[in-house]
Amino acid sequence: MTEVCLRGITKHYGAHLALPPLDLEIPKGQFVTLLGPSGCGKTTTLRIIAGLETPSGGTLSLGGRTMFSEAGGENVPPEKRGLGFIFQSYALWPNMKVDRNVTLALRQSKLPGAEISARLAEALEKVQLAGMEDRFPSELSGGQQQRVAVARLIAARNSILLMDEPLSNLDAVLRTEMRTELKRMSRDLGATTIYVTHDQVEALTMSDLVVVMKDGRIQQAGSPSEIYHRPANLFVAEFIGDPKVNLFQAELRRDGSRMRLAGEGLDMEVDLPRGTAPGKVTAAIRPEHLRISDRPGPGAMEAAIDVVQPTGSQTIVTLRQGGRLLTCLVSRFLEAWPQEQVWVDAQPGHVMLFDRETGQALAAGPGPVAVAAE
Ligand SMILES: Nc1ncnc2c1ncn2[C@@H]1O[C@H](COP(=O)(O)OP(=O)(O)O)[C@@H](O)[C@H]1O
Ligand SMILES: [Mg+2]
Repeated sequence: MTEVCLRGITKHYGAHLALPPLDLEIPKGQFVTLLGPSGCGKTTTLRIIAGLETPSGGTLSLGGRTMFSEAGGENVPPEKRGLGFIFQSYALWPNMKVDRNVTLALRQSKLPGAEISARLAEALEKVQLAGMEDRFPSELSGGQQQRVAVARLIAARNSILLMDEPLSNLDAVLRTEMRTELKRMSRDLGATTIYVTHDQVEALTMSDLVVVMKDGRIQQAGSPSEIYHRPANLFVAEFIGDPKVNLFQAELRRDGSRMRLAGEGLDMEVDLPRGTAPGKVTAAIRPEHLRISDRPGPGAMEAAIDVVQPTGSQTIVTLRQGGRLLTCLVSRFLEAWPQEQVWVDAQPGHVMLFDRETGQALAAGPGPVAVAAE
């Protein structure tokens, strides 16, 4: 069932069109992330859903109820939309202790005292802040303050949660911890969550559905695996993945009944759906799909080791190849590579091809565009 539905939503700021008509349907109970570079319209979209921003046109419904309709002249105020929020600043009231911060909305909605106490205890327990009821926000660490904001969401039991870059003020360790906690909370509450971030790791780790945006337009909406393995266009391919994809300007040519991909060091046979036209393409290969070997092999490119960076479970190896740099990801710990001269080739089945002119993915198959081994 669709819980959140945007149809033809637009937003102008003066002459600036921040959102061209935007269409988005979010099923109930899903964790959906709006992902994209700064200024692409994520916050604007979220604030429109919240009712904090009035769209210039279109319709918005939540749980089947129309919240905004330009044509119908409807605009339900934010407090009547039944939503929970966490924004970048935790927005705790500095003059209220933890218990009052968590229960403010419940008290305003005149819930019975016993119910409020029960929900407070349950929420604080869930975020491991039991016993901290009497502290002021200034007596808590950044992470604990963030947990108070989470407890407030848990206590309110809203069926739709909106979060705008809630982890960006936290240090790296805490961010990873809170990521897990927010994902668990959303699952336990059975809530529909719309999460805004520019951080692709947050998007991939937390979401059921990732919506990649650029200049107010949706580039692709898909599962983390679809976004990562089958990017719809070159923008998505380059935006997702750290380290980034390696790009090769190459050409597809017919070779008997097969196709060959050649250019910038690549020279390989490729398996493509029937009817794929030859022509200029951009091939994108993820760092973990390039193989380094000590010996030359058919179709392998000669390269030189440039920089070796162990990250723990993996090592990033930068190679010099034909006057430019390639990035490889090796799934073990290495401080150095035994020799300078190496050969590199692409793992079969892991080359993504895009039309050089339009940047659109060449073949939308069930998996990554398959590349046959030599
Ligand atoms: N209040 C505003 N007045 C004018 N322009 C705005 C306002 N809010 C956002 N914008 C513009 O709308 C676009 C989208 O902004 P925003 O939704 O904040 O992007 P994001 O959250 O993805 O970084 C940007 O170009 C931004 O400059
Ligand atoms: Mg924003």
